[in-house]
Amino acid sequence: MRVSSTLLLALPALALAEDQIPLQEKVKGWFGKLTNAVSSAVPAAVPSAPVEATAAKVAESVQHHLTLENWKDVLTKDLAASAPTTQDWVIYINGGNVTCFGHCGNVTRAWNETVALLSAKPHAPKFATIDCDEEPVLCNSWSVGPPSIYYFTIPKPLADQSAPAPTVRYIPLRRNATTVETLKTLIVDKEYENTAPYEGAWHPFNGALAQYNLAVPVGYILWGFNKMPTWLPMVLISFMSRSFMNRRMNPQPAHQGGAGGAAPAPGRQ
Ligand SMILES: *[C@@H]1O[C@H](CO)[C@@H](O)[C@H](O)[C@H]1NC(C)=O
Ligand SMILES: *[C@@H]1O[C@H](CO)[C@@H](O)[C@H](O)[C@H]1NC(C)=O
Ligand SMILES: *[C@@H]1O[C@H](CO)[C@@H](O)[C@H](O)[C@H]1NC(C)=O
Ligand SMILES: *[C@@H]1O[C@H](CO)[C@@H](O)[C@H](O)[C@H]1NC(C)=O
Repeated sequence: MRVSSTLLLALPALALAEDQIPLQEKVKGWFGKLTNAVSSAVPAAVPSAPVEATAAKVAESVQHHLTLENWKDVLTKDLAASAPTTQDWVIYINGGNVTCFGHCGNVTRAWNETVALLSAKPHAPKFATIDCDEEPVLCNSWSVGPPSIYYFTIPKPLADQSAPAPTVRYIPLRRNATTVETLKTLIVDKEYENTAPYEGAWHPFNGALAQYNLAVPVGYILWGFNKMPTWLPMVLISFMSRSFMNRRMNPQPAHQGGAGGAAPAPGRQ
């Protein structure tokens, strides 16, 4: 194992450093050096299989899996039950080989450990996860992609059963640089509050699409678009813009260089 081999290498060096220092000081010094050796050895050993497996188990027992069918119920169900006037939900948008190109593993590991650590704290938010490989329509209907955090603050319904609008904050994560520390800062130190609440058309509860019941159909359409080969939309757009230009009364093609470009993914804002 890594820790023990590092320690074995460290011990002879410590022994060599011995000299005339009184025993008590010597012990102290040894202890300090030993601690340093251990703590420098530990980071390398942290992503070890047992820790990872334990974290995954805890995360699994704590977090909810959201789907197109259940998300609204899960997020709003036991709202009336508890004392606070709002319930915070931290939703991890995850993906596999299709939506995250197989690059979400490190972030997911950090998420699992964060959930395992935070779930033990009082006043922890609730945790949920969405796998965009398995729930492509849900992800498209919210216009979100992995790896990211969607932080929901959901108010309790009022006495007349009308519910104030939930606040949602969308926070993309860096695939190569998201650690337990990043997530802890985001959640516990409330760094998420630095992200402005999202209020556009894709807001899951009261965006225009949700209000007109269009989010799910649009989710299906976008999912369909994602499934078609990437060159197809470009060819279609270039074809359409060309035929549009040909029909113009006063063609000035020199100013209109290019073929219109590919439509960008449906952006937020
Ligand atoms: C994270 O935890 C889930 C269970 O919640 C588990 O299925 C998954 O394999 C874990 N992922 C990693 C990278 O540890
Ligand atoms: C994802 O891709 C990797 C390598 O291409 C493969 O080993 C793995 O089995 C794939 N996972 C899934 C769930 O298809
Ligand atoms: C995940 O972490 C490993 C080890 O730290 C690193 O080699 C790999 O490049 C990371 N993957 C991504 C996608 O950042
Ligand atoms: C992560 O990737 C981005 C580009 O994708 C790069 O600019 C950045 O330096 C990388 N960060 C680390 C810590 O590797």
